[in-house]
Amino acid sequence: MRHLIDPMDLTVKEIDELLELADDIIENKEKYAKVCDGKKLATLFFEPSTRTRLSFEAAMMELGGNVLGFSSSDSSSSAKGESVSDTVKVVSCYADIIAMRHPKEGAPFLASLKSDSPIINAGDGGHNHPTQTLTDLLTIHREKGRLDNITIGFCGDLKFGRTVHSLVKALSRYENVNYIMISPVELEIPQYLKEEVFEKEGMTYQQVRTIDEVIDQLDILYMTRVQKERFFNEADYVRLKDTYILDMPKLKNAKEDLSILHPLPRVNEIAVEVDDDPRACYFRQALYGKYVRMALIMKMLGIAKPE
Ligand code: NCD
Repeated sequence: MRHLIDPMDLTVKEIDELLELADDIIENKEKYAKVCDGKKLATLFFEPSTRTRLSFEAAMMELGGNVLGFSSSDSSSSAKGESVSDTVKVVSCYADIIAMRHPKEGAPFLASLKSDSPIINAGDGGHNHPTQTLTDLLTIHREKGRLDNITIGFCGDLKFGRTVHSLVKALSRYENVNYIMISPVELEIPQYLKEEVFEKEGMTYQQVRTIDEVIDQLDILYMTRVQKERFFNEADYVRLKDTYILDMPKLKNAKEDLSILHPLPRVNEIAVEVDDDPRACYFRQALYGKYVRMALIMKMLGIAKPE
């Protein structure tokens, strides 16, 4: 039995196959409407979520399966003091596959050691978010037709943003990806990523402080929210939260085929006026998240592509 805890748990070939399957699901939705008949997905969310949980649930429903679960730790026995391992051990008796989000880094990994069903990490603290990464890769592939030979700017909270950490790791396996990390000094990517991914793989990256100085170079701009819930003090959050606001004047020098991604939720970092620009991909990206999760559920349950 395999779990998906870290984006690197999937090989490049497996990622290619998942994206291809997601593309086929988008083209031929009706073909997939019953493939998970009789299967159950549990969503165990110990931390807030809109897109990830609901897209997982919609994904399973569109495959003809059923869903069960909880959307906050208060409404589970974790409020009574039950350990994550015990919760998962029990839920794996009820569900064929489990998507789990937890504020503590490593919690889904610990859960996977006890679970009798495959565990999908739906976000663990500031660490990883592999299914958002699959969503991002599908979006980049559909927008650009490739995952290599791109210049990608990551902007905002690169320190606590797990979507950034996961996507940086996943992209490290593709050729000629040029990384531009745009953040205040306090929110730079963690040292472990600099050492274990960028330096180890011999990848080059730039660190800059403003969008303006690099916008004309970018094929992709990956905006992120400052992760309020991971700050140790409110004053730092307040000081940093509006460092970057992408608006139409900021896009003046951008390429015509720039793709603007954001895992969402957005707070202030993208002005609403940008939503109508054809370069804004973030709502399409949220939709793609459902299709790539359909592909992933099928793969993890060992369900073959229907003829
Ligand atoms: C992200 C997350 O939970 O890490 N949201 C999501 O899953 N789409 C990003 C965020 O919360 O800022």
